[in-house]
Amino acid sequence: MPISIGVVGMNYWGPNLARNFDRMQGCRLAWVCDRDEAVLDRHRSSYPNSTFTPRYEDLLEDETLDAVVIATPVPTHAALTRMALDAGKDAFVEKPLALTGADAHQLAELADARGRVLMVDHLLVYHPAVQKLKDLVDAGELGRVFYLYGNRQNLGIVRPDENALWSLGPHDISVMLWLVGERPSEVSASGESYLQPGVEDVVFGRIKFPSGVIGHLHLSWLDPHKMRKMTVIGSERMVVFDDMETERKVTIYDKGPIPRTGALG
Ligand SMILES: NC(=O)c1ccc[n+]([C@@H]2O[C@H](COP(=O)([O-])OP(=O)(O)OC[C@H]3O[C@@H](n4cnc5c(N)ncnc54)[C@H](O)[C@@H]3O)[C@@H](O)[C@H]2O)c1
Repeated sequence: MPISIGVVGMNYWGPNLARNFDRMQGCRLAWVCDRDEAVLDRHRSSYPNSTFTPRYEDLLEDETLDAVVIATPVPTHAALTRMALDAGKDAFVEKPLALTGADAHQLAELADARGRVLMVDHLLVYHPAVQKLKDLVDAGELGRVFYLYGNRQNLGIVRPDENALWSLGPHDISVMLWLVGERPSEVSASGESYLQPGVEDVVFGRIKFPSGVIGHLHLSWLDPHKMRKMTVIGSERMVVFDDMETERKVTIYDKGPIPRTGALG
C-alpha cells in the first residue's frame, strides 16, 4: 500500500513538496490543501487524482491518510504539527519546526508519545555535495576539523514574521550539526533590523562544539552577494561547498597551515 500524503500550504514552497511526493514511488498525494482557494486553483490541473480542500481539518479527519506535509508560514507550524500528531498522522514539516525551543521539544515529545514520525525538512543534509563533505570529514581527509562557516546571503525574500536566522539559518545549522556530529556547547547570535522593526535582516551566529570546533554563520536577505556556501577548515585540507556553482559544487584545497621553519627564524 502506498503511503498516503496530504500537503498543506501550496503557495511558494509547498508545490515543490507536492510535486516530489506525487512522483515518489510508494507515495500517493491524496490531499492538497491551502486556505486560499485562488492558490488551490493554480494546482488543480496538475493533480487530477488528489482531493483539494481549503480545510486542514479534512486531512486530519481522513482515517486513510498516513502523513501530512506542512509548508505554511512558520508561525503556524507548531499548531498545525500538533494537530497532525494528535490526529495520529506522521508529520513532515518545513524548516524551522517552530519559533521557540519549548514548542520544538514539546512536538518531539508528542511524536514519541504517539509513536509517529516527525521530520523537519533539513533538505541540505541530503544534498550530494553535502554528503561528499560528510564523507571527507568522516574519512579524516581534512585532518582535524578546526572550524567551519556558512554564508547564506542574498537580496532575497524579506519575511514579515520570521527573521533571517529563522528563515535561512536552519539550512546551515543542520549541515554544521551533521558534519561535526556533536551537540553544541555554546550558541550565540546577534542581528539587526533595518527594514522592519523587530525582524532581523542580517544575523551573525556562532556555535561552539565541545571538541573546540567553531561554526560561524552569516545570514542575510539584505546583501548584494548571492552566496550559498559552506567552508570547512581542517588541519590537512580545506573544502568549500558552493551551491551557486553549477558544475563544481565542491572544491578541495589541498592546503593546511604553513609550518614555521627554522630558517625563517
Ligand atoms: N527548504 C527550503 O529551501 C524552503 C524554501 C522556501 C520556503 N521554505 C519554507 O516553506 C514554508 C512555507 O513558505 P512559503 O514561502 O511557501 O510561504 P507562503 O506564505 O508563500 O505560503 C504559505 C501558504 O500557506 C497557506 N496557509 C497558511 N495557513 C494555512 C492553514 N492554516 N491551512 C491551510 N493553508 C494555510 C497560505 O494560504 C499560503 O498559500 C516556510 O516554513 C518556509 O521556511 C523552505
